[in-house]
Amino acid sequence: MKLADDEKAMLDGRQGPARQRAMDLLVRYGEALGAERLVDTNNVCATVGATTPFLRDWAAEHPGGLDAVFSEFSLDSAEVLEIPKVKAYTCHVQQGIDPEHAVEQGVSPQLVQLYRKGEAFMGRIGVQLLNTCAPYQVGNVPVKGEHCAWMESSAVIYCNGALGARTNAEGRESAGAAMLTGKIPYWGYHLHGNRLGTHLVEIEVEVKDTADWGLLGYYIGEVVQEQIPVLNGIGHVPNLARLKHFGAAAASSGGVEMYHVVGITPEAPSLAAAFGGRKPLATLKYGAAERRRAYEQVNSTGRDRQVDYVMLGCPHYSLEQIWEACQLLEGQRVHASTSLWIFTPSAIKQIADRNGYTKIISDAGGVLMTDNCSAFGRVMPKGTKVAAVDSAKQAHYLPAIMGVQAWFGTTAECIQAAVTGRWSGGMR
Ligand code: F3S
Repeated sequence: MKLADDEKAMLDGRQGPARQRAMDLLVRYGEALGAERLVDTNNVCATVGATTPFLRDWAAEHPGGLDAVFSEFSLDSAEVLEIPKVKAYTCHVQQGIDPEHAVEQGVSPQLVQLYRKGEAFMGRIGVQLLNTCAPYQVGNVPVKGEHCAWMESSAVIYCNGALGARTNAEGRESAGAAMLTGKIPYWGYHLHGNRLGTHLVEIEVEVKDTADWGLLGYYIGEVVQEQIPVLNGIGHVPNLARLKHFGAAAASSGGVEMYHVVGITPEAPSLAAAFGGRKPLATLKYGAAERRRAYEQVNSTGRDRQVDYVMLGCPHYSLEQIWEACQLLEGQRVHASTSLWIFTPSAIKQIADRNGYTKIISDAGGVLMTDNCSAFGRVMPKGTKVAAVDSAKQAHYLPAIMGVQAWFGTTAECIQAAVTGRWSGGMR
């Protein structure tokens, strides 16, 4: 790979051992990918701390603390390096626990202490503690064409498809190296030619609410896998939440990281522009039969109608979604044998507190949580066997990760399940 002077200086160790390791990692990574050079980035989203059970156990026993965690798991260095301040603007993705709701989540005080240490470490090196899988909801909104280095599949697809910014799905190591150097290999979705559509999807049914968009994403992901769908014929302009649910679902059932919606997303002013003048590899349709198929697949684990747990906020809820949920919930009580947890970024929760939404939720017997989610943090109310969700992504992962049944439906159906304790949703 050709390196610029500042990159050579980091690789030679002139900016300290941690940046040297980071640059060495990026060069090895870039060469393995066939990248010819690196590109500057000033927008990284990554997990840094001890966010998984394995890392927590490792960190608890290692005397080197969070510097050791970062050295070993973000820089591939067994030697404990002192981690300097980041060069690139970096936001933390998720923390794995909500320290304010540790009791409900069954999290030990030791774990909360480790979380606090992680927070202090990130503050010291300059990582922004957004602690969300949806950073674009709380101020990190890269512009079209901006080179980013983001982790988390639902964020990556939003960054590429909805915003027209450019990122590959980075891992902890490449994102860790990017934050210390301000560089990332120039390959994949950083290149215009790799962002053009491959599959045309003709939309033949109405796609309106977030559940509709989730089903559409789930269907498309399964069919196109890691290719780039171009949606044509969307009748209703979606909002942030709908594109968010679409992308999260497409990235779960397949590995979609980029898409176009003709006339709506930034790189698809027309069908021709979305394909860059090339012919689609295949043309698909999304009609009533395809929608039904997606619905049945997303609901394939749901059997028992009694619901123990209603989980909303995958990806993390926007303020608008909290407002909508509160309108559905206000004045009612969550059923005695059911729990309602709603997940959102902590920055949004502060506004929800001030707007009285947190109180509406807690008066009803639910909880507004931050910093994690059930699938990522592996946290659910004790004894949960049946969950209800309005996210196709969470319906995909909860049964696989937590071994529970999951019902998928609209937000209104989920709130109804929370209040009645029973699933009465169905294909509309
Ligand atoms: Fe976010 Fe957890 Fe869903 S990380 S996208 S809320 S699975």
